[in-house]
Amino acid sequence: MSNNQQMGTIKFFKESIKNLKTVGTITRSSKYLCKGMIKPLDFENAKVIVELGAGDGVVTAHILKAMAPDAKLLAFELNKKFCDEMRQKFKDDRLIIVEDDASKIGTYLKENGLGKADAIVSAIPFTIIPEDITYSILTSCKEHLKEEGTYVQIHYSLLPKKYYKNTFGNIDIRFIPLNVPPAWVMVCKKTKA
Ligand SMILES: C[S@@+](CC[C@H](N)C(=O)[O-])C[C@H]1O[C@@H](n2cnc3c(N)ncnc32)[C@H](O)[C@@H]1O
Repeated sequence: MSNNQQMGTIKFFKESIKNLKTVGTITRSSKYLCKGMIKPLDFENAKVIVELGAGDGVVTAHILKAMAPDAKLLAFELNKKFCDEMRQKFKDDRLIIVEDDASKIGTYLKENGLGKADAIVSAIPFTIIPEDITYSILTSCKEHLKEEGTYVQIHYSLLPKKYYKNTFGNIDIRFIPLNVPPAWVMVCKKTKA
């Protein structure tokens, strides 16, 4: 691990300890988990990608590396310090950092003239969020996802899989052991109604 990565890990730890109720973990996703999260995405055809709960940008960096030069990434993050960190770290015109709640996905897609999303990648800790808020964010995500679009979510437990099965009607689950804690990547498709 480079010195910069070590510093990032320590900063993330400090900020997440202070805000455990919204961050939901004390460690950032490992590179194996980041890769597992973006693997289901069709980067050749994805022009609009949305990331929810971007933190300090560890998954964001992987998405930016893989996405097309003419694609856009809308990254939502509630925490100001994490957003400032991302603003400092990324100088990329394709990235729009949204320091606001993921529930406003529709407002920001519209405001930025982006239409519907080809893919949504989320690390929002829905296990510690009230169920009605979880469902309202997920319903909004489905509404603003293109048909055949992909929704990807990480979790450290299989218990919340019902949220995605109930919202999208389908789910494919992959286990990523090389993360602290080990994690699951849940992948859903928006199918024709
Ligand atoms: C588990 S951390 C993930 C950070 C990073 N994406 C990673 O994989 O390491 C979850 C992040 O979601 C953010 N978050 C929680 N609820 C949110 C919401 N409703 N809208 C936007 N971000 C939210 C938290 O502030 C936190 O940074």
